[in-house]
Amino acid sequence: MTLEKTFILIKPDGVKRGLIGSIIQRYERAGLRLCAVKLVSCTREQAEEHYAEHRGKSFFSSLVALLTSGPSLAIAAEGAHAIAVVRKLNGDTEPQSAAPGTIRGDFAHMGYTRSAELKGTINNMVHASDSAESALRELSLWFDDSDYTDPYETVLKEFI
Ligand code: RTP
Ligand code: MG
Repeated sequence: MTLEKTFILIKPDGVKRGLIGSIIQRYERAGLRLCAVKLVSCTREQAEEHYAEHRGKSFFSSLVALLTSGPSLAIAAEGAHAIAVVRKLNGDTEPQSAAPGTIRGDFAHMGYTRSAELKGTINNMVHASDSAESALRELSLWFDDSDYTDPYETVLKEFI
């Protein structure tokens, strides 16, 4: 099987809460390789394009507002079954239902009823591609070829 690349976004709620390190640790600990990492303050256009499949839904405008409320950390991660493995590590969309041990289950707790009460969206810290097609689309939306480096090559050059 060939290695897969997937796209992960630590959304502004995760960045604002200072949880970048704790979240990235989960992906690295599972053995995934980070190929590109970038802090991005995204535009409304980029946020709308990223979540285009949800255009027209009741939570769309608050989701775009969340994504443009501060910087996000964009990550390209690689590994066998990376797309499914990252979705598993992230956990259920609704933190209230997300299993303990997952990022959304451990670092967030909001449920759909609370987000409806706030007339907002679900604050669930992370996004991850849900298929090979979305991974390709999202990676090209957030990264240029020049953003990718080979960390192992860098380590070899500098320390061996
Ligand atoms: P993501 O795309 O962020 O990885 O999340 P997902 O696949 O688990 O869930 P999806 O259905 O694609 O929803 C995208 C994001 O929209 C927000 N959301 N809010 N009813 C609501 O308030 C609601 N439903 C979804 C969440 O931030 C979700 O991650
Ligand atoms: Mg999704």
